[in-house]
Amino acid sequence: MRIVNVVGARPNFMKIAPLMAAYGAHPALEPVLVHTGQHYDHAMSDRFFDELDIPRPDLNLGVGGGTHAAQHASVIQAFEKACLDLKPDLVLVVGDVNSTISCALVAAKLNIPVAHVEAGLRSFDRTMPEEINRVLTDQLSDLLFVSEQSGLINLAREGLDHEGVHFVGNVMIDSLYRNLPRAARSTVVADHALVAGEYAVLTMHRPANVDDAGILTRLLGVLERVAAELPIVFPAHPRTLDRLASFGLRDRLDGNPRVQVVQPLGYLDFLELVRRARIILTDSGGIQEETTVLRVPCVTLRESTERPSTCIEGTNRLAGTDPDRVWAEYRAAMSSDPATFGIPARWDGHAAERIAAILASRGARPRAERVLATAHGALARMSRVD
Ligand code: UD1
Repeated sequence: MRIVNVVGARPNFMKIAPLMAAYGAHPALEPVLVHTGQHYDHAMSDRFFDELDIPRPDLNLGVGGGTHAAQHASVIQAFEKACLDLKPDLVLVVGDVNSTISCALVAAKLNIPVAHVEAGLRSFDRTMPEEINRVLTDQLSDLLFVSEQSGLINLAREGLDHEGVHFVGNVMIDSLYRNLPRAARSTVVADHALVAGEYAVLTMHRPANVDDAGILTRLLGVLERVAAELPIVFPAHPRTLDRLASFGLRDRLDGNPRVQVVQPLGYLDFLELVRRARIILTDSGGIQEETTVLRVPCVTLRESTERPSTCIEGTNRLAGTDPDRVWAEYRAAMSSDPATFGIPARWDGHAAERIAAILASRGARPRAERVLATAHGALARMSRVD
């Protein structure tokens, strides 16, 4: 059973790494790795293959950046050709980036079954490009691998409670557990002249936060207030660096001795930096999950989260971008006791093994069977309603 696995952007790499390792236990599975090239810098892509022991991609589509439409169009065209050449029995996509939906769409139109890892997450904010990618990818997928309980509820609400839904846990957390011992050897804390437990980590790259000069300026104001209490280290995404420069805000940050703006870090250094931090301020999705497992307080600079278990059970607090609210949530997070927070079900380091076992036992079943099964399920539900 040939499985074409798709990666495109930074948050995909830590999700695919444990899967590529787990396939090894199932000789019937023949994994192929395709990189769309959505992220292309060494710091945003290549470095993660080395650190996470991901095999080199069998194919790199080299699509690069561009507008959303241009990115989708390039991935769709190149990935269709790849599928025609590789003839996969299944295409597996992870997460919610533009490459995820583009490749799912190509596979579905070629009648190749699609598996989506991290299915069912919903922020209910359709101004986020990732939310559109999530909703549409789930609609196109035959197998839906769910990472947290809310995913099951969301899929059912959308009529996607078919036999292809599996609550497997969180592959990103598999990577975290696997790499903690190696991350502990990183010297990143000392390298940045920081003291464990006495600094904050900031990440920020969502278009909603960094593409608007007013919002970015207001956020910088409250971050300076935080910096007066705790030194901040800020590994900045290329988009954010670009916007800081074009809005004339870079000098303001560089002039603050309590804030270190640094290039994006590798996986191991970043994990260690987060693990040792007093608090995290972020607009990332995955970091909300990692901080929950590491039991580090997290203030999320967004109005919504597609990962509610991190707030309900974990250390996460939604703060939006209003400076007073961010400050209040920061203060509340600082006085919280991380030991009292929980870890969501099945975030145990074995999600990828569950997925590989399900794929191996399913075999190379054609797509039409799922379509028929869903149609029968819908009819059965209608007759129950009658
Ligand atoms: C993408 C994902 C987002 C994820 C983020 C993590 C989508 C819709 N968004 O956002 O969910 O959280 O990756 O990083 O897919 N750039 C570089 N080098 C690179 C990659 C990007 O310089 O290797 C710059 C380019 O100027 C590019 C810009 O960053 O135009 C934005 O990249 P893009 O892939 O469009 O989206 P991200 O903002 O990175």
